[in-house]
Amino acid sequence: MITSMKIATVGAMLLSSTMAFGQYGPAGRSVPASASDAHLNFPEHYREWVYLSTGFDMSYNPAMPADHHMFDNVFVNPEAYKAFVETGSWPDQTIFVLEVRDAEGKGSINQKGDYQGTAVMGLEVHVKDEARFPGKWAFFDFDNTRTGKLFPPSADCYSCHAAHAAVDTTFVQFYPTLLPIARQKGTLSPSYLKDLGTPAPK
Ligand code: HEC
Repeated sequence: MITSMKIATVGAMLLSSTMAFGQYGPAGRSVPASASDAHLNFPEHYREWVYLSTGFDMSYNPAMPADHHMFDNVFVNPEAYKAFVETGSWPDQTIFVLEVRDAEGKGSINQKGDYQGTAVMGLEVHVKDEARFPGKWAFFDFDNTRTGKLFPPSADCYSCHAAHAAVDTTFVQFYPTLLPIARQKGTLSPSYLKDLGTPAPK
């Protein structure tokens, strides 16, 4: 027989485990935050999240040397993906991972074209947490560590994403299954529409 005393104890245990897990856990959330605001714990299961796209040799800098090829893979947590499909917008606690891999050409039976190497060359996270960050979103760098380092608001990540990204500082214009949803829901940003030469909807 379960006594009310036992229920109260289990309730307290659940509450404390929620607190220990941090702002993004557990209840299906994907990334535990660490105690300090300047850090983020590694989103360990991001390879089980929703895959959005792969960029090949994308560069913001026309002077980038052409002899070094790279892939970047973009993933988003499944809770946020589901909300986006319904609304065309990102909910609070959306988490993106951008994973960079070397392009390799010589291996096994491959004769032409490139495939992705096993080593991760870089890993960056873009997270929306309205209560935690003044600008709602923040960028973190993982640089082969288990704890991400916050990019300060002065970093160029923030200005480029704010000025050119299609939905709420995220580059939905490069995520082929999401762009039509944003178009249909009318959630494209005024700055993106301006880049296209289309007037923003009133
Ligand atoms: C000049 C523009 C520009 C700058 C500066 C920039 N990015 Fe991005 N970012 C992009 C583009 C374009 C994509 C889409 C990549 C793709 O399609 O594969 C992107 C995608 C991302 C994503 C995937 C989620 C999303 O928001 O769409 C992350 C994470 C990310 N960038 C992190 C960073 C970080 C961290 C910095 C700063 C160190 C940074 N970016 C600086 C243009 C920029």
